[in-house]
Amino acid sequence: MKTAHYGNSRFEQQRPAVYQSEGKTYCRHILERESIPALLRTDEPRMFTLPADSLEFEASLNRAIPNLEILAVERRRSIHATAQAKATQLGLPLNIKLSSDLAFFEKSEVRQCDLMWLDYCGPYSPGKFNAMETIFRRGWLRFAGDSNPIIATTMMEGMDLNLFKELVLAYARPPGVKHYRQLIRMHSIPVWINEIAHWYGCGIKVRSIVRYRDRVRSINSRTMLFFVLEVTPERRPDFSPWEAKATNLTTADLGRLFHVNN
Ligand SMILES: C[S@@+](CC[C@H](N)C(=O)[O-])C[C@H]1O[C@@H](n2cnc3c(N)ncnc32)[C@H](O)[C@@H]1O
Repeated sequence: MKTAHYGNSRFEQQRPAVYQSEGKTYCRHILERESIPALLRTDEPRMFTLPADSLEFEASLNRAIPNLEILAVERRRSIHATAQAKATQLGLPLNIKLSSDLAFFEKSEVRQCDLMWLDYCGPYSPGKFNAMETIFRRGWLRFAGDSNPIIATTMMEGMDLNLFKELVLAYARPPGVKHYRQLIRMHSIPVWINEIAHWYGCGIKVRSIVRYRDRVRSINSRTMLFFVLEVTPERRPDFSPWEAKATNLTTADLGRLFHVNN
């Protein structure tokens, strides 16, 4: 039995690694399905990522698309050191910069990306807002003919997302869908990213929303919201945060998905 990577209790450490990260694994699969076709259509595909030190997604994409250029940052020194060592050991063409994403987007020479994987897993914050605004303002996204760039992100579900309640309520919801807090939070992030996109003449198409709770750090891990958003080169008057079906995964669902006996 493998030792859990993030496990910090005896109970967590005794569980098989696959059980540790079902939600994350599920989201990585969705992101691969949503991004690989577009990356394959691009001559010189490039992505940005916050890889941490698992590198599973980056290794998998590198196998599927060997000419994919991967820009990566990590702001924590200890994680940066392990991640860079692992990338080298795996033979991944990855030069991880020790930096915050915001500093990187603001100060580096712009290299347009087809995929931005902002896997924060933290709460909404002004820093994340500024990073997103900088991506659009400085033109980090590549619009290449028939393939639009993708922004994928994971954030912690929390009360802070109720900040966007008025924005979400401005969009007509499908019949039968009630506005309760959980739904407002699930749909709020596409709405604020669409607002930023709108300032810069672009739009957002919601491809996928997943809500999951992955007991990776402890039994009390927080609920995460994962989004795959296609960015369109023009504004979308018909944008709706309700346009993609949102999947709400319970722990039992994840157990079934990964054929793990609970
Ligand atoms: C959830 S982990 C990434 C997991 C990885 N994408 C995977 O699939 O396993 C997020 C990583 O990004 C780092 N991070 C979070 N916010 C950041 C920021 N604003 N700038 C740079 N690194 C950040 C964290 O320290 C952490 O190592």
